[in-house]
Amino acid sequence: MCGIIGIVGQSNVADRLVDGLKRMEYRGYDSAGIATLEDGEISRRRSPGKLNKLGAVLEQKPLHGHTGIGHTRWATHGAPTECNAHPHATARVAIVHNGIIENFRELKSELEAKGHSFESETDSEVAAHLVTDLMGQGLAPDEAAKQAVARLTGAYSIAMIFKDHEGLLVGARKGAPLAVGHADTEAYIGSDAFALAPFTNRVTYLEEGDVVVIRGPQVSIFDAAGRPANREIKITTASAALVDKAGHSHFMAKEIHEQPEVVGHTLAHYLDPAGPVVRRLGVGLRPALAKASRLTISACGTAFYAGMVGKYWFEKLGRIAVEIDVASELRYRDPVYPDHGVALFVSQSGETADTLAALRDAKAKGQTTIAVVNVAESSIAREADIVLPTYAGPEIGVASTKAFTCQLAALASFAIAAGVARGHLSAEDEKKLCASLLETPRHIAEFLKQEPAIKLVAEEIAKARDVLYMGRGPSYPLALEGALKLKEISYIHAEGYAAGEMKHGPIALIDEAVPIIVIAPHDHHFEKTISNMQEVMARGGKVLLISDREGIEKAGKVWASIEVPTTNAFITPLLYAIPVQLLAYYAAIAKGTDVDQPRNLAKSVTVE
Ligand code: M6R
Repeated sequence: MCGIIGIVGQSNVADRLVDGLKRMEYRGYDSAGIATLEDGEISRRRSPGKLNKLGAVLEQKPLHGHTGIGHTRWATHGAPTECNAHPHATARVAIVHNGIIENFRELKSELEAKGHSFESETDSEVAAHLVTDLMGQGLAPDEAAKQAVARLTGAYSIAMIFKDHEGLLVGARKGAPLAVGHADTEAYIGSDAFALAPFTNRVTYLEEGDVVVIRGPQVSIFDAAGRPANREIKITTASAALVDKAGHSHFMAKEIHEQPEVVGHTLAHYLDPAGPVVRRLGVGLRPALAKASRLTISACGTAFYAGMVGKYWFEKLGRIAVEIDVASELRYRDPVYPDHGVALFVSQSGETADTLAALRDAKAKGQTTIAVVNVAESSIAREADIVLPTYAGPEIGVASTKAFTCQLAALASFAIAAGVARGHLSAEDEKKLCASLLETPRHIAEFLKQEPAIKLVAEEIAKARDVLYMGRGPSYPLALEGALKLKEISYIHAEGYAAGEMKHGPIALIDEAVPIIVIAPHDHHFEKTISNMQEVMARGGKVLLISDREGIEKAGKVWASIEVPTTNAFITPLLYAIPVQLLAYYAAIAKGTDVDQPRNLAKSVTVE
């Protein structure tokens, strides 16, 4: 997703703008640019493609100036060309924008009628012309900026600099995050604290509708009604060091290998190994769970599949009715929320637009909202009634891996607590389940030793045009997750199915050219899944079975198998996620795709 950076500095800012953008590369983008004030004049450099291309442009034509803005763009309106890249500028203002301006067509027609001419296909450029128009009516730049953003509808954040106004930087937040960084002689704007970390750890998160006016190091914030607003300065923990790959070829590989550690951290937050019991949950969560009439779960993408696994756990352990839907549907469905309902939202970034909107809707409709999030300062974390953190650390690869297993770790702990709070689990049950969960990091570490064998199978999978995944019970969401992972980084067409659904249509797709990945832990679904697997094999299907030793032995001859350590059935989703991730990773390597930043995808989807 787009990234914004702005600096009012004491020295040339171009290099630092590019550094700030580099730290947001993980969000995904397809063009980039910066603008500075050189002797009061707006100068900009832009380029389609990655930041090294912008770097080459800057090497040829360096930019000077102490005030500047920068942007990485993930194309929404218009292709990723230089012309559509930000900053967008007129003779008087340059702007960078993240999100969507929904009323840009009306505004554009209005401004064209007044003689403004546009050079890009973007919605963003309209903001630059609107500010210019208001300045032309005699308004000071900050006043013009405030009046302009008041006319924009949609969800966005924005930053701007102005010709002849050295040291002036204006930002605004409506629906997409924007943080302000404070230092003694400088000030900054960034899409997240991570972008600002090399410059400062003193950060203010703008609230909805806020406008920030920075003059030199002076920061003034105004609320949606235009009143001066006092916003807290927080000390962030975002690391100033650029996250590196720690010797791995890709962030995704590093993140897959970090799972024993980060799942361990997440479990350590929730479980007391001395019991073992669930020790820590948000204040007010246990009583809310005890009387909850229903649990609504919502999220997007991989986080949604984590929520789907959670559904099986909450129903089984907590005996609580669960409704689940993707956030982009739930938010517009006008769902019926019960009294004493609890609504749970899962998100790595905490900024996914649809998930945030679904949370706001559920909150407005009287639900107690709970968020499982990885970014503590994110919008979703700040707006939920109760936060259940995950400790995956920054996830840079666009394909979510360690965030998923940490979400599962938090959800599993939460489901055990729900079972106890609702009187369905005894103290003995709690102990057993917690003890199994605590073994997960060790099992993941043990399983990772099989990486070379998985690489070989993945290289075979990479030759296929279509791949199917199937599983039952909590392995069904894993089948969906496996297919998502494979398609997003290797671009191989893949679908996940509930194993029992195969006969209702998808089995028609089976032939020798279509590998079927069967996720079948040796649990109470095993026999049924294996029957479905046999049906597929009887039609020439090439099966890769993922199971434990006993499961593989019982299943008989298959094309290939991956053996996962034998564990309590409760924790299998955390463990079986790993082969699914490695298969996708090595298939993508075999195909030679851009694993960490796959085409068309963004890390954090802040537009709906
Ligand atoms: O930041 P979130 O967890 O809210 O993001 C949700 C999805 O956009 C995300 O999981 C996406 O599906 C990943 N690319 C999957 O690997």
